[in-house]
Amino acid sequence: MIYLDSAATTLQKPPAVARSMAWAVNRLASPGRGGHPAARRAAETAFACRQAAAGLFNLENPEEVVFTSSATHSLNIAIRSLVGPGDRVLISGWEHNAVTRPLHGLGAEVAVARASLFDRQAQLEAFAAGLAARPAAVVCTHVSNVFGFVLPVGEIAALCRQREVPLIVDASQSAGCLPVEPEQWGAAFVAMPGHKGLYGPQGTGLLLCGGGEARPLLEGGTGSASALQSMPDFLPDRLEAGTHNMPGIAGLLAGLRYVAGRGEKAILARERALLRQAVRGLRGLPGIRFFAAGAEDAQAGVLAFQVEGMDCEEAGEALAHRGIALRAGLHCAPLAHESAGTLEDGVVRASFSDFNTPAEVERFVWEVARLVRR
Ligand code: ALA
Repeated sequence: MIYLDSAATTLQKPPAVARSMAWAVNRLASPGRGGHPAARRAAETAFACRQAAAGLFNLENPEEVVFTSSATHSLNIAIRSLVGPGDRVLISGWEHNAVTRPLHGLGAEVAVARASLFDRQAQLEAFAAGLAARPAAVVCTHVSNVFGFVLPVGEIAALCRQREVPLIVDASQSAGCLPVEPEQWGAAFVAMPGHKGLYGPQGTGLLLCGGGEARPLLEGGTGSASALQSMPDFLPDRLEAGTHNMPGIAGLLAGLRYVAGRGEKAILARERALLRQAVRGLRGLPGIRFFAAGAEDAQAGVLAFQVEGMDCEEAGEALAHRGIALRAGLHCAPLAHESAGTLEDGVVRASFSDFNTPAEVERFVWEVARLVRR
């Protein structure tokens, strides 16, 4: 199988990830829950993982790195910390359901900073206009999970700082391949999964907290301040109730170390080279509509396309039968499809990781060509 679905989950992991997880199962107990060696090793592994994340994302304090079970979990904490019922929230038109559903559930008033796909300048202007209404918070994805559009988050963050509006960044598709700079951005929160570009296992996520009020989504034991009936007021304990997913955290640590060793720049360069190769291949095929940015900096390693006259799910299924793993449909991001005008038909999405090769992309293009000929 040729795996081109890394925007959902990176399946090919550095071998150290599985090794660390297997080691953790029998060697790590619960951090902060005992002075015995297995508990101490767990605490050291958890702290090493926070340090590795702080190093990669230029955070001074590793305690501001909170473990969660997914980016969705992280976003729910971030949104519920800053937004209440009826509050106005400004979001990009490329947000995932992990952002829009919690906002809907809270009864927030959602305003969308609308701009055309891959138009970074128009995106920035849309945020500037939306910020004039003084929203309670801004939520912005760094990279669209459907189209790979890289939003100008640094510039949007500067506007939020000027207006003193707290910013939540969804770095689900950028962590591990683009610089994620919570402190430089002055972001209130940055959310990310462990299982995509950080090459960790599913069931892991991170929330980088930039100060300000953080409201626990779960309450329970933390191994600290146990006599108190309220959650501790310090991070990371405030947001980490219950026993930690130590095999997951050990795997994520190995993934973070891989990314740090390879370098985000090198990973992005590889993914963009594969993207360019795929675009060149699809360009020559009749009946294919693909979504590629004119400017290289506007797109990361995600390529959406449609096959004329064929339902996208059917195309995805046909390619799966030919050994190409992709994701078709709406990718849990109906707002992004609405923004791009693909809500009715959906798209097929190819997404690349550091483990894909030019030979795999060649075969992918060849299989799409066979599908078109059919
Ligand atoms: N949000 C993930 C995707 O884009 C799961 O497929």
